[in-house]
Amino acid sequence: MPALMKFLHIVAAIVWLGGISFMLLAMRPAAAALAPPQRLPLIALALGKFFTLVWLAIGLLLLTGLAMLLGVGMKNAPAGWHLMFGIGLLMFALFGHLYFGAFRRLKQAVAATDWPEGGRRVGQIATLSGLNLALGGLALAAVIFLV
Ligand code: HEM
Repeated sequence: MPALMKFLHIVAAIVWLGGISFMLLAMRPAAAALAPPQRLPLIALALGKFFTLVWLAIGLLLLTGLAMLLGVGMKNAPAGWHLMFGIGLLMFALFGHLYFGAFRRLKQAVAATDWPEGGRRVGQIATLSGLNLALGGLALAAVIFLV
């Protein structure tokens, strides 16, 4: 059972962090070749699909992470595990902010064909996502090195 929890936990982390890497390092630079009326609807649509996966990943990370953490007991857990829990909660909060703030505004801007506003919102989403990618790396380092 702990092995299954860890397996599902790692799958969810790969989907989330891998998806951010793809969006920031492949999708965004490639889409820069398109004009805003083509680029922004495409980005909004791609993000909408990816963010559904992120909600699933968050649910899975929280459930499986807590199962592993509570399985050994909070008092017995190494510092790295506590750190991962804290950083994970911060990542979830940042994503909620990104989803219900900047992403909602991006969809409104695309619907209103307000391209400058859409571009600004994509920039905010990229910044928050980059921060979450860095935090994910930090959480990973914590659980591997601080045992
Ligand atoms: C806030 C909820 C979270 C909790 C309670 C949690 C807890 C844990 C625990 C207890 C482990 C087990 C370590 C071991 O067995 O050695 C673990 C491993 C891991 N976690 Fe999390 N975690 C959370 C969030 C995250 C997030 C947000 C990510 C990255 C997106 C992540 C990525 C990983 C990975 C990749 C491992 C495997 C590391 C290894 O090989 O040992 N976790 N986590």
